[in-house]
Amino acid sequence: HRTLRVALLGAGSVGSQVARLLLESGADLAERSGASLELAGILVRDVDAPRDVELPRELLTTDAESLIVGADIVIELLGGIEPARTHILAALTSGADVVTGNKALLATHGVEIFDTADQVGASVSYEAAVAGAIPIIRPLRDSLAGDRIVRIFGIVNGSTNYILDRMDREGLSAEDAQRLATELGYLEADPTLDLEGYDAAQKAAILASLAFHTRVSIDDVHREGIEGITADMIDGARRAGFVIKLLAVCERLEGAAADGEDEAISVRVYPALVDREHPLASVHGGNNAVFVEAEAAGPLMFYGAGAGGVQTASAVLGDVVSAARRHIAGGVGVGESARQSLPTAPIGRI
Ligand code: NDP
Ligand code: HSE
Repeated sequence: HRTLRVALLGAGSVGSQVARLLLESGADLAERSGASLELAGILVRDVDAPRDVELPRELLTTDAESLIVGADIVIELLGGIEPARTHILAALTSGADVVTGNKALLATHGVEIFDTADQVGASVSYEAAVAGAIPIIRPLRDSLAGDRIVRIFGIVNGSTNYILDRMDREGLSAEDAQRLATELGYLEADPTLDLEGYDAAQKAAILASLAFHTRVSIDDVHREGIEGITADMIDGARRAGFVIKLLAVCERLEGAAADGEDEAISVRVYPALVDREHPLASVHGGNNAVFVEAEAAGPLMFYGAGAGGVQTASAVLGDVVSAARRHIAGGVGVGESARQSLPTAPIGRI
């Protein structure tokens, strides 16, 4: 087996589980990818910070530059825009393939990152960026590439679903439910991203871009969060036969386009009253569910863990195996394609 050097940026909820699994499952991953994956180092802010997952002290570093130079695969699990953006661009230009779970970055700087990857012939994989462990990026980008998707809707944020669910089913206060979601590692480092719907809007932008072959950024998405949802509202909804869920909806608006445009699309995130008989009402805890409606395929449903360190690590490692296969095949041809940019044509109208 050839050995590939893997640099891991971040050892938080997701990164620590990725590190553990890379170290524990090395032989299996080598078998599946055709290369031994050597964890070269792990970038953190503080090498001495206490960690839930015990990691070899000698792998932890605060020196990003030395870690990235010479890496074949760089896994970015820092979150946020900077320094994640700078490190990803540095990794790509030094010839590494990149795996990331950073929807905030992709929804704002996706074009720059994917264009850079295309220019240097490297890949950027991001299955973990939307709906945690649920495979949804590849199905949209690859499996459904021959179909015409008309609508995607569902629950794409695990922490707010967890909070609303515990308030609805157990009468927990919003504060207590949020504290538990934090303990489970569901919330972003800045929880307002989840609570105010930014995280779901970033994911909706990524899904809509892939599904409708156009460029949708976070600024194009109508966004309302759950910060104004009270226990009284949840009680009232229950008595009327509804449950409150934070929904993301991405759809083509047939016949609604402005002059000279073929069609319009709408992308929106908002708390909605969902009938208790609807399958979305049964999405509990940190789970997500994404419904995709395509012309030929008909309705499809994707369901599973939408947040959580170890669950999301599954999606990250799947991308790492694909990147390794691609890397040892010498680039394009196996696993990931180099030309996998989000489309760069501007969106018609929202
Ligand atoms: P955490 O906040 O738990 O971890 C972030 C890690 O990055 C920490 O180890 C931290 O170091 C390190 N870090 C942050 N900033 C810097 C910096 N400037 N320099 C060096 N190291 C830094 O994040 P998560 O693991 O929860 O999330 C990581 C990414 O995965 C995010 O993009 C998130 O959106 C995405 N994601 C998260 C999911 C989840 O359920 N948590 C699910 C799907 C995607 P230190 O440990 O020293 O503080
Ligand atoms: N904070 C995110 C959520 C993590 O709650 O869904 C998974 O992307």
